[in-house]
Amino acid sequence: MSELTVKHNELSADEFIFMWESVWGQCPTYEQTLLAMEHSLFRVSVFDGEQIVAMARVIGDMGLCYYIKDVIVLPDYQGKGIGRLLIDELLRYINDHGVSDTNIFVELCAMPDKIPFYEKFGFSANEAQRLRIMYHVDNSGNR
Ligand SMILES: CC(C)(COP(=O)(O)OP(=O)(O)OC[C@H]1O[C@@H](n2cnc3c(N)ncnc32)[C@H](O)[C@@H]1OP(=O)(O)O)[C@@H](O)C(=O)NCCC(=O)NCCS
Repeated sequence: MSELTVKHNELSADEFIFMWESVWGQCPTYEQTLLAMEHSLFRVSVFDGEQIVAMARVIGDMGLCYYIKDVIVLPDYQGKGIGRLLIDELLRYINDHGVSDTNIFVELCAMPDKIPFYEKFGFSANEAQRLRIMYHVDNSGNR
């Protein structure tokens, strides 16, 4: 592993799709992904030479809502501190841009086996144990 390069707001849709498919299988469409990149508050990507090896992003409204999404380190690069680097970058961004002297609660959704990773940074699972509820938009007739 050569020296890593950290890039801000350069993560492309193609890179996102490559990273997603490396760990989670089939990605959302290119059109969706491009919009997601354009409308993210902050994107961070990590490169080993020319090779992207990690990514993460923040979505939200800059005021009340900051939500961490799509934290991925390529399997060969896991366990080397890159996940910590990603979260540090995201939290620094939020700390630097959030309204001063207000309560800002950063949210994310994690699989149970990843909760201990996030707890290392001070995240705590919702004590109310609220479940994530979802609605699948069926807009297939809109085209
Ligand atoms: C979760 C993930 C981002 C962690 O990245 P990583 O580069 O391996 O993490 P790091 O090497 O920076 O680890 C930072 C610390 O977290 C710990 N850690 C990492 N993964 C952990 C896990 N699943 N459970 C508990 N602790 C974990 C490390 O031991 C390390 O602890 P230390 O600083 O006390 O030594 C990575 O495993 C990954 O990309 N997984 C696949 C995608 C995924 O599931 N993303 C999370 C979506 S919620």
